[in-house]
Amino acid sequence: MTDTVDFENAVTEINEGILEEVHSIEDIEAATDFELKHTPNIEVVELASGQLIKVSIGLKGITHPQTEEHLIEWIRAFDGTEPLGTITFGPNETPFAEFEVKRSDSQIIVQALCNLHGLWEARV
Ligand SMILES: [Fe+2]
Repeated sequence: MTDTVDFENAVTEINEGILEEVHSIEDIEAATDFELKHTPNIEVVELASGQLIKVSIGLKGITHPQTEEHLIEWIRAFDGTEPLGTITFGPNETPFAEFEVKRSDSQIIVQALCNLHGLWEARV
């Protein structure tokens, strides 16, 4: 008799595990390179119709790898509690996303998922 591994359940367990905790930078001056390279960089462009939220990953010029083994899997954004969308990325794709919002008083929340290092968040 041979042992079999249930890969589908194993992947689900890993994803649930890394989604439990949301990482964010408290003090940008004290942030490590590890923190800087995972944190969404949010640029807000004012439009006549509202705002364009431009998101890349990494602060202070420190970028995250995007390989088969280690990558940003997706970026998603919320206008307050309202989801604005989720953009997914594969290996060698630059993790960059744009979201259009009507001007609102809510906080814009952006999250990014690294397959190895979990969920990272920034707010504007
Ligand atoms: Fe990572």
